[in-house]
Amino acid sequence: MQREQSTKTSEFDRFAEDYTTGVDRPLKRLLGKSASSFIQVKALYLMDHLKRQAKLKGRTDGGPHLLDFGCGTGEFLWFLDQYGFSGQLEGCDMSAGMLAEAAGRWSETEAPVLHVTGEGRLPFASASFDLITASCVYHHIPVDKRAPVTSEIFRLLKDGGQFVVFEHNPYNPLTRWMVARSPFDVNAELLTARVMADLMTEANFQPLKKDYILFFPPRLGWLRGLERYLRWLPLGGQYAVVGIKKADSAAPVTGE
Ligand SMILES: C[S@@+](CC[C@H](N)C(=O)[O-])C[C@H]1O[C@@H](n2cnc3c(N)ncnc32)[C@H](O)[C@@H]1O
Repeated sequence: MQREQSTKTSEFDRFAEDYTTGVDRPLKRLLGKSASSFIQVKALYLMDHLKRQAKLKGRTDGGPHLLDFGCGTGEFLWFLDQYGFSGQLEGCDMSAGMLAEAAGRWSETEAPVLHVTGEGRLPFASASFDLITASCVYHHIPVDKRAPVTSEIFRLLKDGGQFVVFEHNPYNPLTRWMVARSPFDVNAELLTARVMADLMTEANFQPLKKDYILFFPPRLGWLRGLERYLRWLPLGGQYAVVGIKKADSAAPVTGE
């Protein structure tokens, strides 16, 4: 794990060891299943998206270079690895505790490079990545910091690179129920897919797609096949918003 910037303690450090059980508690009460199955669905969504995006897939010989921003305990990266993601995986998070948990998933030689990052400018050169993901991170970023973070992510992407954001859908009542009961969501402020898409547009991304996902609880996983017909319906438990950095996109002012 690389510690790129000195950081103050992150609010997630105190949840790191118990993070998975913390997520599972309200979920198990409601649905009787683990949170992993939700992350698994998002990893499969991304793999499917990549399959359809031949350009991204074949951009470099080694496959796309992906950064998972706010990777937490690394479960999303781990599932991508399991599903045969062909490129290079990296993760960053403000919480050294969460990253320590993430690193434990892999043997030392196989672990993706994990960076402890701070607020403001991220410790990567411009145009470093083909793909940047952020899963359930934005609702933890203070509202006034969301635009500078999005611009910073724009800076890190190569021309043609994509930013894929997964977020809780505030229109889904079960999602709101779970968030209200998660110990680490006390400071969370949910945002709609529309607000996320606007943040991307303001940062000069061109909109690529907006899909609602996770309509069915894990124990009804056999219904998941239907989800692709429901992606337009703003009632899924979460959503994915994808933006692309095009050559003619002006470089935004990063602000920090
Ligand atoms: C709810 S967890 C989600 C973790 C992981 N992405 C997942 O889907 O399981 C949110 C994570 O975002 C991280 N985070 C919040 N704001 C961040 C920021 N500005 N930069 C990097 N990480 C951040 C937190 O430390 C925490 O690990």
